[in-house]
Amino acid sequence: SSSSSSSAAAATSPHVLLIAFPGQGHVNPVLRLARRLAAKGLLVTFTSTSDIGARLLSSSSDVSPLPNFRFDFLSDQPSGPLAALDDLMRHLASAGPPSLAALLRRQTVPVTCVVGSPFLPWALDVAEGLGIPAAVLWVQSCAVFSAYYHYHHRLAAFPLSDSDPPVSLPGLPPLSAADVPSFLHPSNPYKLLADTILASFGNLGKARWLLANSFNELEHDAIAAFSSLRPLTPVGPLTDPFRGDLLTPADDCMSWLDAQERQSVAYVSVGSVVVLTADEMAEMAWGLRDSGRPFLWVVRQESRGLLPEDFLEGLTTTEGDVGRRGFVVGWSPQDRVLSHPAVGCFLTHCGWNSTLEALSAGLPVIAFPQWGDQVTNAKFLVDVYGVGVRRPEAEGMRARAAKWKEAAAAAVAEGGSSDRNIQNFADELRSIVV
Ligand code: UDX
Repeated sequence: SSSSSSSAAAATSPHVLLIAFPGQGHVNPVLRLARRLAAKGLLVTFTSTSDIGARLLSSSSDVSPLPNFRFDFLSDQPSGPLAALDDLMRHLASAGPPSLAALLRRQTVPVTCVVGSPFLPWALDVAEGLGIPAAVLWVQSCAVFSAYYHYHHRLAAFPLSDSDPPVSLPGLPPLSAADVPSFLHPSNPYKLLADTILASFGNLGKARWLLANSFNELEHDAIAAFSSLRPLTPVGPLTDPFRGDLLTPADDCMSWLDAQERQSVAYVSVGSVVVLTADEMAEMAWGLRDSGRPFLWVVRQESRGLLPEDFLEGLTTTEGDVGRRGFVVGWSPQDRVLSHPAVGCFLTHCGWNSTLEALSAGLPVIAFPQWGDQVTNAKFLVDVYGVGVRRPEAEGMRARAAKWKEAAAAAVAEGGSSDRNIQNFADELRSIVV
């Protein structure tokens, strides 16, 4: 569907088009920034692939339109099923650019700024080809941004095996081989994705603004140290309750949480991509059962068959759902779960969104990273923010978690550091449109 606006006001307001890589961990922060820019009075269009469009519109996501916020998806239908991440990357690289160019050309209100992603480097090329100023929204931590940047530009020697010394990057604690994003390791199986992200660091000159889903109070040192290379503008945490689910959340877990004691429940999730092995699933299942504590565990449909036999049956009680000690769902309303008073800790794979959502909710975490930036995020949760462990040490963490909750809310509140950055960005765009 093509967008249109008949209002004279919209015709003179900047029009920002944000494009999200097709994955839940990207759609959420990009949608949330889109809503924030719309709240600043800009005309905003959110785009991603047609598949993401269909899933967003069919889940129970809060996709209600605002007068100045609309969806307009790429027409990028792949010719066959995309089996793997590499197939998706190849498809996007060939079908994405013409489709984005067509989408930009068909806007009745000319686009003032394209907000792209380092996971879709061609978006900057398309914007440049059409003479449209561009920004990038980095959806991971500024520390990880700095690591990729230093790696790509060969500004530091990175430890790639346990015997290599840690790397010291400006504003970051020393990172060992286990702490640097695993995409840099020779054993990384996601080659095309890693190559795309790294190559995009050579393409950042095309972006006039580098926005990041972080906040100054959290990553001050990394951001300040990086500013001698390029200014990084934190606009997060983009963790508002606004939801962009690609799967339909199981809302019945909320009434189960209501029936649990304060801070008693362990919430367990590995995000939208990580798949555990059958052995890991069994370890987790028996560990949760034997902990003797209530738990809410997200097991996505594709992993359900890996649950040990009889595990789910063993959770049922004669008191019905509410009496269960453990609750397993296919997808949760995570932001609502994390802020529920019954939840006491978050066993997380340390995706950056989950990390920021945990900090925003003031929750201590048990770090369970798998790959990519998750290993770096785990290092920061445990050793820098002081809110995580690989084994619980609850009380001190709870106090520090409460501190981050306050700082996160203040950053995005009116007049807060990230809110001011979004305002300045909006004002700069206004100065482009005459
Ligand atoms: C991945 C990477 O792991 C992440 O670090 C990167 O920045 C983006 O791509 P993902 O693994 O899905 O993302 O994790 P995460 O970044 O935590 O994003 C998952 C999102 O899905 C979060 O916003 C979380 O609230 C939401 N979610 C997850 C739900 O709403 N319900 C669930 O049951 C699980």
